[in-house]
Amino acid sequence: MVMDNRRPYLPSSPLLFWTCSLLLGCECVSTQRDVAKEVASYTDVANQIIKLVLSGPAQKRSYQRLANFTDTIGNRVSGSHNLELAIKYMYHAMSEDGLDVHLEPAKIPHWVRGEEGAEMILPRPKRLAMLGLGSSVGTPPEGIEAEVVVVSSFEDLKSRAGNVSGRIVVFNQPFVSYSETVAYRAFGASEAAKLGAVAALIRSVTPFSINSPHTGWQDYQEGVTRIPAACITVEDAQLMSRMAGRGQRVVVRVTMGAKTLPDADSFNTVAEIQGWQHPEQVVLLSGHLDSWDVGQGAMDDGGGAIISWEALSIIKDLGLRPRRTMRAVLWTAEEQGGVGAQQYYDQHKVNMSNYDLVMESDLGTFAPVALQFTGSQAAQKVMQEVVKLLAPIMNTTRLEPQAEGTDIGPWMQAGVPGASLHVQDSRYFWFHHSEGDTMSVQSPGDMDRCSALWAVVAYVVADLQDMLPR
Ligand SMILES: *[C@@H]1O[C@H](CO)[C@@H](O)[C@H](O)[C@H]1NC(C)=O
Ligand SMILES: *[C@@H]1O[C@H](CO)[C@@H](O)[C@H](O)[C@H]1NC(C)=O
Ligand SMILES: *[C@@H]1O[C@H](CO)[C@@H](O)[C@H](O)[C@H]1NC(C)=O
Ligand SMILES: *[C@@H]1O[C@H](CO)[C@@H](O)[C@H](O)[C@H]1NC(C)=O
Ligand SMILES: [Zn+2]
Repeated sequence: MVMDNRRPYLPSSPLLFWTCSLLLGCECVSTQRDVAKEVASYTDVANQIIKLVLSGPAQKRSYQRLANFTDTIGNRVSGSHNLELAIKYMYHAMSEDGLDVHLEPAKIPHWVRGEEGAEMILPRPKRLAMLGLGSSVGTPPEGIEAEVVVVSSFEDLKSRAGNVSGRIVVFNQPFVSYSETVAYRAFGASEAAKLGAVAALIRSVTPFSINSPHTGWQDYQEGVTRIPAACITVEDAQLMSRMAGRGQRVVVRVTMGAKTLPDADSFNTVAEIQGWQHPEQVVLLSGHLDSWDVGQGAMDDGGGAIISWEALSIIKDLGLRPRRTMRAVLWTAEEQGGVGAQQYYDQHKVNMSNYDLVMESDLGTFAPVALQFTGSQAAQKVMQEVVKLLAPIMNTTRLEPQAEGTDIGPWMQAGVPGASLHVQDSRYFWFHHSEGDTMSVQSPGDMDRCSALWAVVAYVVADLQDMLPR
């Protein structure tokens, strides 16, 4: 049950504040409210939230909820039966938790992996661990067998243009950063196909490997032949590179049963605590419920989804209710390019002026380091005060420039302030989109701190007198 627990001592109009300030003889700053003081008045509430989560009844709850969810459902790729089960699970779990939950329909891609495998035939037989890439076409049933050309970059590929036709291109690009290196996964197949390649095998986009292939979405270019595309391991890409470098002829066979089915019906899952004063104004917290079809999708992005639920749970448990609505949205089909979130944006952008802040956690729920924020200078000033409330959670209470998140991108581009969670993510891409993305990566204490941070930021912003300035 959500109770009305507004704090009556906050002045409700600038004029009243002006009067109070004069009467109390405090420093007068024209009719502009002193935002620093207003935010500081939330210190006790923030500490209550943090205590409930770090040492109170909500301790370890985020982890337990994530484990219950991902152990029960497993991974949940766009279009799969598991994703439907996941949405039903979260609908019921958040309803049982006493939140106001509903589903909003979205059409999503339905790509299926099918049976797949790859092996090196020459210079010696060896099984190659691989994962087909999302949207890839399959091979004929007998597979594609061809000599390999190993390249280390797109430039290297072009310099071998005369030697690519009829071959399988192996991209052995070094890992620089995810945002830079992911171009090989996304565009490698079409670049190779332009030169006549018959398939593309791309070194997994990860800084660390124990022979683990990492999947992900890839994009075919319009008008270019669609060739099968898969990721192989760092180890095997390097092996074939060394062999080719010694002048050895490397031959590989790849077999993929991948295909794309008609778009599927799905839902964004939405839970709310309605604001008592401005229910139409919204602070949106989010993570995506879909994952890849490997591992458990615990880190990407079960954690982000669960802390967005948990933030609402915490506020409800404390009997708090902010002025504005706190809305958790668990997106569908993020991995295919923010597909569910784009539909939500298209449907709700008519009410853009009522979106106070959009938040997304999709880079793991490890130990929090900072809040990332995109907004005007005036909004940054407010948020710099808000993050000071996080001192008991983090050693530094930094506001970093630029929020990140595929799903909140459209809102931020349209000028709505955005926030994302920066965590100690150095290990994130070790596990990303691989069989290694399981509960074993998560820690209850770190998740508690993420949930507490998420709850404090969302609640305080939702309860301030004014929306964040644009
Ligand atoms: C696990 O989740 C299910 C579904 O929400 C719930 O009924 C059950 O009580 C949970 N189990 C634990 C131990 O939390
Ligand atoms: C193609 O590969 C052969 C050896 O397999 C080599 O002799 C030749 O120089 C290569 N041509 C190009 C354009 O790289
Ligand atoms: C827009 O806001 C109004 C007023 O709160 C609400 O009635 C309406 O349902 C909203 N529309 C959408 C598409 O969210
Ligand atoms: C804060 O710093 C101390 C000492 O460097 C470290 O042990 C602790 O883990 C840090 N706490 C957080 C929340 O980062
Ligand atoms: Zn993700």
